[in-house]
Amino acid sequence: MIRERILVIGASGQIGVELTLALRKIYGNNNVVASDLREENELLKGTGPYVSIDVMNKEMLHVQVIRQNITQIYLLAAILSATGEKNPNLAWHLNMQGLLNVLDIAREEKIYKVYWPSSIAVFGPTSPKQNCPQQTIIEPTTVYGISKYAGEFWCNYYHQRYQVDVRSLRYPGLISYKSAPGGGTTDYAVEIYHEALEEKKYTCFLREDTYLPMMYMPDAIRATIELMEAPTADISIRTSYNVSAMSFSPKEISAAIKNYIPEFTISYEPDYRQSIADSWPQSIDDSVAGKDWGWKPEFDLNKMTKDMLENLRHP
Ligand SMILES: NC(=O)c1ccc[n+]([C@@H]2O[C@H](COP(=O)([O-])OP(=O)(O)OC[C@H]3O[C@@H](n4cnc5c(N)ncnc54)[C@H](O)[C@@H]3O)[C@@H](O)[C@H]2O)c1
Repeated sequence: MIRERILVIGASGQIGVELTLALRKIYGNNNVVASDLREENELLKGTGPYVSIDVMNKEMLHVQVIRQNITQIYLLAAILSATGEKNPNLAWHLNMQGLLNVLDIAREEKIYKVYWPSSIAVFGPTSPKQNCPQQTIIEPTTVYGISKYAGEFWCNYYHQRYQVDVRSLRYPGLISYKSAPGGGTTDYAVEIYHEALEEKKYTCFLREDTYLPMMYMPDAIRATIELMEAPTADISIRTSYNVSAMSFSPKEISAAIKNYIPEFTISYEPDYRQSIADSWPQSIDDSVAGKDWGWKPEFDLNKMTKDMLENLRHP
């Protein structure tokens, strides 16, 4: 059996912190090397090795992969949807070149497995709005969505041509209490819980009826690890799997919060992120992930709201 040595790139971000901690529980603290451009997240300090890595610096990355005897890479470094629209060139450059650097090194060093997340942002206004299927019309209108869609095909290409075992999920908006979100269109669904507890009110940057696919972080971490641990023969999708858990609007999340904080109020001031949200599906069909590797979400809106508020109140 291979002794796994895992490198997480972008480990100080919203997903990276929790994924690194979860991987350390499974593979042992010292076998999971956290890395990021920014400094080590407070929650990671003292839990295992940390190295500073810029994924754009291929040589430095390559040296670290060899030095640390890496067998698996999780690439989380990216520019997200809302930030990407402010700086399209940077988003394209980082999201593409970062992935190509990792895929090339994985090919050269015979890295055993690679994980790279895509997003529901690959879908565009011409994709079905409800229960958007795995395979459908995909015409993204954001630079983030374009970079994710192109990235999916690079993953498929490296798998077909060089046998790199790269696996991917199209995450919906992710909601978490441990680390802050990094500039996505669904960030409101994290901010709203903090503001509900601190201010008892929240001004939402999306309209009240904007339905989007969402997932609670524990489900996202479990989906990622279940996908990565699934037998190779079960993986039929080498672009990226649809995964889903729930779909709700700002009005519905605010009603769920009011069950616990009755005085909470919400108001709406839609900004440039509204048109990004309007271009995406409202719900996702993840039946292929269910069939291939048994994906099943655990958290719905009410269960997540209870857990979020409890954890934010008593960290
Ligand atoms: N959070 C979500 O709701 C969501 C939804 C869909 C897909 N995703 C995808 O999941 C991945 C992780 O997202 P996240 O929410 O944790 O993002 P994040 O912005 O919170 O974290 C990304 C991390 O990457 C680091 N980084 C940026 N440039 C780097 C570089 N050049 N070298 C090394 N590190 C660098 C950042 O410092 C940051 O800590 C991304 O690919 C994102 O597109 C996230």
